[in-house]
Amino acid sequence: MRPVILAIESSCDETSASVIRNGKVLNNIIASQAVHQKYGGVVPELASRAHQQNIVAVVNEAMETSGIDRTELDAIAFTRGPGLMGALLVGVSFAKGMAMALNIPMIEVNHMQAHVLAHFIDDPKPSFPFLCLTVSGGHTQIVLVKDHLTMEVIGQTQDDAVGEAFDKAAKIMGLPYPGGPLIDKYAQLGNPKAYKFSETVMPGLDFSFSGIKTAFLYFLRDEKVKNPNFVDEHVNDICASLQHHLVKMLLTRVRQASEQTGIKNIAIAGGVSANSGLRKELKALGDKQGWNIFIPSFEYCTDNAAMIAVAAHYKYLKGDFCSLDVTPLARMPI
Ligand code: KG4
Ligand code: ZN
Repeated sequence: MRPVILAIESSCDETSASVIRNGKVLNNIIASQAVHQKYGGVVPELASRAHQQNIVAVVNEAMETSGIDRTELDAIAFTRGPGLMGALLVGVSFAKGMAMALNIPMIEVNHMQAHVLAHFIDDPKPSFPFLCLTVSGGHTQIVLVKDHLTMEVIGQTQDDAVGEAFDKAAKIMGLPYPGGPLIDKYAQLGNPKAYKFSETVMPGLDFSFSGIKTAFLYFLRDEKVKNPNFVDEHVNDICASLQHHLVKMLLTRVRQASEQTGIKNIAIAGGVSANSGLRKELKALGDKQGWNIFIPSFEYCTDNAAMIAVAAHYKYLKGDFCSLDVTPLARMPI
């Protein structure tokens, strides 16, 4: 029943550990950092400190609940990047310490590849090739997935990520961080056609989300002149319309990518793939286009170590290990 791998994720504001045995994820322990809420975004210095505080307990819980003894581990995997440098350093250093103590190899994992590979934790698993729309707080990419470890980004944002657009719009409305899930919640009670926003159209399969936050800011400013209670009175319709707008921007590109490549296996991944509007509209579009749709369970949408573990499993099978002098990468192409 080999290999047995412990995986650690610490790229942003989630400290997570997971044990995988022979490709089967045994657990997925996550400590979220509430400390950022009052600042309206992730504060890198605080994220690093919180990882330092949480990592021992998270790793211990993953080992204990797996029922596996440390001496049975075949490798330690960790997120090398992309992410916050100070946050990544905590996971990388911890992995080095354990790998040295146990005298086992280390496996570096690309966080964005891991988001895509979250589809290989449970069934149904997509067959190759497939397209994956990877949408998070830091990235918006359309990835052409040729096999487990061969991926090509065929479209991406040229400025903000779509998760950032959700979070910044929420902040403008006075909602706490992270605003994406709250916009989703209010949107479910509102009319998606109530308001319209303009969009910046990029060439090819690329995206731009920086314009929407300015457009949204001015839209609210103008409405508040007419009615100072505009946001409170219309929050559901505002959220529903904004969400519909962002989802439409994403799905237009996915449809074009499918037409250009002829690929009809379509997946979504990353934190924003938890969005109920995106999931619903993707299903509807998929039915119309005859696509096979793959949507990860909620637990594996936002940052987690189970996805790092699955990526590490495939790298282990290829003998793809890294040396002990490995350093994190804040930017790391797929
Ligand atoms: O993948 P992730 O956990 O971390 C990064 O790697 O960035 O994604 C976090 C992002 C945040 O921007 C958060 O607001 C967004 O995912 N998010 C959502 C939802 N759940 C999380 N956005 C919209 N609707 C949701 N339900
Ligand atoms: Zn992520």
